Amino acid sequence: MDSFSTVIRTASHEQHVEAETSTFMSDLLGGRLGVDAYARYTEQLWFVYEALESGADRLASDPVAGPFIQPELYRLAALERDLEHLRGPGWRTGLSALPATRAYADRVRECAERWPAGYIAHHYTRYLGDLSGGQLIRDKAERTWGFARKGDGVRFYVFEGIANPAAFKRGYRALLDAVRADDLEKQRIVAECRRAFALNTAVFRALGEEFPLSA
Ligand code: HEM
Repeated sequence: MDSFSTVIRTASHEQHVEAETSTFMSDLLGGRLGVDAYARYTEQLWFVYEALESGADRLASDPVAGPFIQPELYRLAALERDLEHLRGPGWRTGLSALPATRAYADRVRECAERWPAGYIAHHYTRYLGDLSGGQLIRDKAERTWGFARKGDGVRFYVFEGIANPAAFKRGYRALLDAVRADDLEKQRIVAECRRAFALNTAVFRALGEEFPLSA
């Protein structure tokens, strides 16, 4: 039988491809969008990580989600520095969530408050992705919009506290494999992971509509 980390990865593979190849992501990574689109995307991430991390300290003592709570993953402070760089000191004033972002953040918060195992699905979908494909996005952003390497604008993608991302990911998969949930609950976590991917794709779709490429 496959390990849970393999199951969750396999189950979300198709949606991963969909997210990766979404119009907005392709345009962004293809260097076809302006820095404004990147800033708008970063703003959306702020709402998602605010939801992920505002409940995290409380979840640290939870028997199921607790082992996943690792402060070296926290992204909110980095996002705030990036936004200050991208939007200026008044960044909070102009900050607004797209409806799709609101729906995503609401679901994360709901899981954080009521269903710790479901929160793991959201935790996995974001942080393991940031540690993986996020590095490609950072590289592209630095080249396209001229941010300093690992500096302001792309700090979200820089995990200062994680020296070896590959080793960290191995450890993370071990946590998934050891998750304290029975088979039915594991199936529910996998379903929530699919939902998390769908919520991400919906944000990309909305951003794609906001930043269309004139043909
Ligand atoms: C253009 C955008 C993206 C690129 C280029 C990309 C690329 C990658 C790559 C190369 C990996 C490496 C897997 C490994 O360690 O072997 C990965 C893993 C992952 N990505 Fe992405 N990704 C992108 C977008 C996303 C998005 C939008 C999400 C979800 C929000 C996501 C979630 C994940 C997750 C959860 C993993 C870990 C899979 C696992 O090992 O269990 N990725 N991605």
